Amino acid sequence: MSNPSIVFVTLSFLALSYVTSVTAIPGGRTKVEDVATNKEVQAVGKYSVEEYNRLKGDNDGPLMFVKVVEAEKQVVSGMKYYLTIEAVNKTSGEVKVFEAVVVVKAWLRKKELVRFAPSQKTTTILQPVW
Ligand SMILES: *[C@@H]1O[C@H](CO)[C@@H](O)[C@H](O)[C@H]1NC(C)=O
Repeated sequence: MSNPSIVFVTLSFLALSYVTSVTAIPGGRTKVEDVATNKEVQAVGKYSVEEYNRLKGDNDGPLMFVKVVEAEKQVVSGMKYYLTIEAVNKTSGEVKVFEAVVVVKAWLRKKELVRFAPSQKTTTILQPVW
């Protein structure tokens, strides 16, 4: 005895699951909507600035992390974050926008800074970089 509405709900659910799994396939880059409150994204952003400072060989560091303003993530072997970051240049005292790419391998407790560079953007972020 099959109830048509239950069949419909089940099919809708399956269709939705399918769409969800398709959008989560490795290689797909998705925008992080809750950047401001996303602790993982903000922590990864802070890490990228600290790592940049460390690689510069300057203990105090040329940059001070302010916040991540935009982020996209991509499933690779781990999670790859594409971040737009505000940081203070301690030399000039200016707030500058930087772009960072970080790969997080949580199971290895490992983060890798792939890229860190000044962004062309200086003020309000209106469009994604990538
Ligand atoms: C910080 O500002 C100084 C002076 O404008 C500049 O020479 C330096 O490259 C800047 N550092 C970074 C990391 O942007």
